[in-house]
Amino acid sequence: MKYKLLGRSGLKVSELCLGTMGFGTEANWGADKRTSFEIMDAFANAGGNFIDTANIYKLGTSEKIIGEYISNDDRDFFVLATKYTLLDNRTNPNASGNNRKNMMRSVEESLKRLQTDFIDVLYLHIWDDITPIDEVLRGLDDLIRQGKVNYAAISDTPAWVVAKGNTLAELMGWSQFIALQVEYSLLQRTPERELIPMAKHFGMTVTPWAPLAGGALTGKYLRGDKGRIKPESNRLNDNSMRITKEVVAIADELGVSPGHVALQWTRQQGFSSIPIVGATKLSQLEDNLQSVDLVLNEEHLRRLDETSVIPLGFPGDFFKEEAVRINSFGGFYDRVEKRN
Ligand SMILES: NC(=O)c1ccc[n+]([C@@H]2O[C@H](COP(=O)([O-])OP(=O)(O)OC[C@H]3O[C@@H](n4cnc5c(N)ncnc54)[C@H](OP(=O)(O)O)[C@@H]3O)[C@@H](O)[C@H]2O)c1
Repeated sequence: MKYKLLGRSGLKVSELCLGTMGFGTEANWGADKRTSFEIMDAFANAGGNFIDTANIYKLGTSEKIIGEYISNDDRDFFVLATKYTLLDNRTNPNASGNNRKNMMRSVEESLKRLQTDFIDVLYLHIWDDITPIDEVLRGLDDLIRQGKVNYAAISDTPAWVVAKGNTLAELMGWSQFIALQVEYSLLQRTPERELIPMAKHFGMTVTPWAPLAGGALTGKYLRGDKGRIKPESNRLNDNSMRITKEVVAIADELGVSPGHVALQWTRQQGFSSIPIVGATKLSQLEDNLQSVDLVLNEEHLRRLDETSVIPLGFPGDFFKEEAVRINSFGGFYDRVEKRN
C-alpha cells in the first residue's frame, strides 16, 4: 500500500480507504463483528490506515465495532473518518441536519462509540439545504481547536456550497474542507460536471463512494451471483450492464478481477482520488486490495471512457465549445496557456 496526502494537508492516508457501512448485520445484510475484525486485520496488515464510517451506519454498530477493534490495536496508526448529519434519535428535531447543535451532539456520541478522544476526519454527511455554510465551518473549526477533530471534510453537497465554504474559511482563517466524498464510478460520472473540477481547484482529495457501484461492477450480477442490490436498481439496468460487460472484457484481457479495473479507473482520472471500498466478506477485501497493482493503459482508459461517458450538459458542453471560439478569435487559441 502506498500513502497519499489527503487534500491540502500533511495527513498521510493509504491509497485505498476501507468503507464500513456494512459492519453490522442490521437490516439483514452486512458483516458480523468477527468478520469485520478479520476485514480490518487484513486491511491493516496490507498497510491500510484510512477507515470510513458514519454515525448512522448500522445505527451506530459500525462505529462500535471499529471502536472495539482500535481500542485493542494501535489507535494512532489509523486515520478514522466519520460523519455527522443523519438522524440517530427520532424524538429530537435537532438530532439531524448540518446545524451546530447536532454537529456537537453527534461528535460526542461518535467519540463514545469509537472509544477514542479524537476523530481524524469529520465529514458533513449530506447537505440539509437549511444551515448556513458559515455555521458549519465555524463549528468544525471549533471542534478542531478543541482537539476533538483533526480535519474537516464534506460529502454529498452541491459544488457551489463547498466552494463558498472553502473560500469563506480561507478568508476567516478557519480550517477548510480537505476531502470531498461523492458517489463516483463508471456507472455514476455526474460529479465530473461541477464537483470534481471544484475539488481540483481547491486541492481537495476526492474519496469516491460506491466505486464498485455497490458490487455491480465486479460483474457478479452478470454471472447470476447475488448481493444486496435490488433487481430494479439503475446499477443493473441495460446501460449499466453494457458498461459492466466492457469492464469484464478488459479484466479478462488483463487477467485481473473486474473490480480491479473499476477501482483503478477511479484512481486514473487526473485528480487526487482515494476510493472507499466496501466489503462484507474477507475474500472481497482481499480481492479489492490487489487492485493497487494494476495500471490501466491509454487504450483501456479510452474504451472505458467511451462506453461510460455522459454529456456534461449546460453550461459545460456550451462553454467548452464557445471557449475554443472565444479564444480562437484573432488566432490566439494555440498561443494562450490553458489551465486544467
Ligand atoms: N457519503 C455517502 O453518502 C456514502 C454513501 C454510501 C457509501 N459510503 C461509503 O462508501 C463505502 C463504499 O460504499 P459501497 O459499499 O456502496 O460501495 P462499493 O465498494 O461500490 O460496494 C461494496 C459492495 O460490493 C460488493 N463487493 C465488494 N468487493 C467485492 C468483490 N471483490 N467481489 C464481489 N463483490 C464485492 C459487496 O456487496 P455485497 O455485500 O452485496 O456482497 C460490497 O458490500 C461505504 O462502506 C461507506 O463507507 C458513503
